[in-house]
Amino acid sequence: MKTNKTLAVKLTAGLVAAVGAVLFFQSPPKEAVAAETGKTGLSFVEYTADGKLKRPSPDMFRKWIYVGTPLTPNDMNDGEASFPEFHAVYMDPISFAHFEKTGVYPDGTVIVKELSSVGSKDATSGKGYFMGDFTGLEMTIKDSVRYKDEPGKWGYYSFGHKYPLKAEAAMNKAASCNACHEKNVSHPQNLSKDWTFEQYYPVLRAARAALKK
Ligand code: HEC
Repeated sequence: MKTNKTLAVKLTAGLVAAVGAVLFFQSPPKEAVAAETGKTGLSFVEYTADGKLKRPSPDMFRKWIYVGTPLTPNDMNDGEASFPEFHAVYMDPISFAHFEKTGVYPDGTVIVKELSSVGSKDATSGKGYFMGDFTGLEMTIKDSVRYKDEPGKWGYYSFGHKYPLKAEAAMNKAASCNACHEKNVSHPQNLSKDWTFEQYYPVLRAARAALKK
């Protein structure tokens, strides 16, 4: 009897967790986010008539929510990292507010990654990597309409890894960007099971941990 009961409890818990997981990982539609917040992160982005993404102004995204800075220094990557070197990552504030409440990246999420070089390796605080000049800009946007055919509904853009940056960028093919991000879905520390590398962004991890309380 006891074993049966334990089994039943376990099965129920498993079922609840499975249903919870399905609901949890589903992004709410843009309309739901807009109804909740007045607009979505897409209100921050602009496209050209032929569908290219216009490079956003730093005056805008540098005031967004800063989520973390992965660093792939050239000198640890055979002299040239594929994404040089500091990657300061910002998330649009509307989507972040939603993420804080739900742990989900809503439809319309816009994330900017601004690259800068290592400027100096020595400061009065000690030896290390200190930020030099801005060198590049990349973006990812979640839009279930515009990117309906892209895995995870995320579109990826690069404005270059050298200044002057491109003023507009066509979406990258899924094989060159999206595919590597998609692989991260199964990473054990990626709790969103979405396309972002949340495991490297302490601000997002903290927001998710606060959610669990
Ligand atoms: C080989 C794997 C790989 C490829 C290919 C790749 N990325 Fe990423 N991307 C990462 C990793 C890992 C991170 C987080 C750590 C970092 O920045 O180094 C990241 C982070 C990002 C972020 C910050 C938001 C997030 O999702 O975490 C953006 C924006 C981004 N990449 C854009 C691009 C674009 C645009 C391309 C194609 C030009 C691209 N990525 C190709 C691995 C990849």
